[in-house]
Amino acid sequence: MRSKPLLLVNIGQLVTLRGSNVGPRRGSSLSKLAIITDAAILCLGGMVVSVGTTKDALRDPWLKKNRKRVTEIDCRSRVVLPGFVDSHTHPVFTCPRLVDFEKRIAGANYEEIAEAGGGIRASIEGVRKAGKAALTELVAVALEDMARHGTTTVEAKSGYGLSLESELKSLEVIRAAARRWPGTVVPTFLGAHAVPPEYRGRSQEYVDSVCAAMIPAVAKAKLARFVDVFCDRGAFSAEEAAQIFKAAEEHGLAIRAHMGQLSETRLEPFLRFKPASLDHMDYVNDADLPALAASDTVATFVPGANYFLGLSRYPEARRFIEAGVAVALATDYNPGSSPTQSMPMAMSLACTHMKMTPAEAIAAATINGAWALRLADRKGSVEPGKDADFAVFDVEDYREIPYWFGVNRCELTVMNGIPAKV
Ligand code: NIG
Ligand code: FE
Repeated sequence: MRSKPLLLVNIGQLVTLRGSNVGPRRGSSLSKLAIITDAAILCLGGMVVSVGTTKDALRDPWLKKNRKRVTEIDCRSRVVLPGFVDSHTHPVFTCPRLVDFEKRIAGANYEEIAEAGGGIRASIEGVRKAGKAALTELVAVALEDMARHGTTTVEAKSGYGLSLESELKSLEVIRAAARRWPGTVVPTFLGAHAVPPEYRGRSQEYVDSVCAAMIPAVAKAKLARFVDVFCDRGAFSAEEAAQIFKAAEEHGLAIRAHMGQLSETRLEPFLRFKPASLDHMDYVNDADLPALAASDTVATFVPGANYFLGLSRYPEARRFIEAGVAVALATDYNPGSSPTQSMPMAMSLACTHMKMTPAEAIAAATINGAWALRLADRKGSVEPGKDADFAVFDVEDYREIPYWFGVNRCELTVMNGIPAKV
């Protein structure tokens, strides 16, 4: 996919988030959106070359000479912001889990459903049986849906195959779908999502096979950048997670984890692995916050999961922000706990239930998501030299993005310089 020279003009509010190279945003810097009004962006070769006012852009001598070659988009005073970086998704699955959904409505909780054979394990068979082409189609459609909601960079996990063969297949599917999409996909190996049925009661043996067989194969085929573990009650223990992180490190893969979704795990022992991100974070000990704040590890909240599981409790974002922890927001798109591709929905939940301000939610969904994927040199802000990834919203004020909920106000995304109408 090749991008043509592109000029966006008449942007009512351009949320640039410029000046983002010093580290993830924390504390008061989370709210500094660096907005330019009546703005323009010029892109060449899929990258931003200049950002300023529409008036200045139209005076540019290069542009005057080359105007005919440039695709011009009139943003009609709408809001433009960096494309969302959805740093936590599980798109490789075949079916919605409607039985789980109805059981929860009838009063069962996530753990009870998992213990009764539902949950993650209920998604394994579909993935194991599915052909690569059919799975690729499903992931490609999900990526398109994400782009329609303003997302231009997506982290995508395996984790419903849970055998060497079907985990490799899932990661190959992510790679094949990514090649068909103009946006950017970061693959993550999540072999330690659940203990598959054939290893029932032999969790340690499964972890040994994740470390000795799966991680080396994934690394050799360069199918993932990150290794993730679901570390929690009923999933993998802190010791098992540490064993997996060590194997990942030995194979040159970076680390992220599901932590504190259902119960508290002490975080400090994991920080020596320099995880890019720890996600969910509903249950976190106060004593871990200073070390987390002193690190570049991002705490990624996924309030879509709290919403869909019908929880009244949400991650305590203010506690983290006030302690100086870098925070991000993601959808956690998956069939069990968060079947949504909408970053604006995650942001709306963060504002209403976690008391993040709209400005904080935007930074958490863009530049800090990029930090959580170690992509902040290319993604998450609108600055010369960065990839041309934007979302155009049919609103006049950036605060409307998390304000309108249950509807999609995104009207255009630009991914690596390629515009895609919603
Ligand atoms: O992030 N907690 C673990 N993994 C997913 C849920 C996956 C599923 O239920 O299928 C999550 O919420
Ligand atoms: Fe998840």
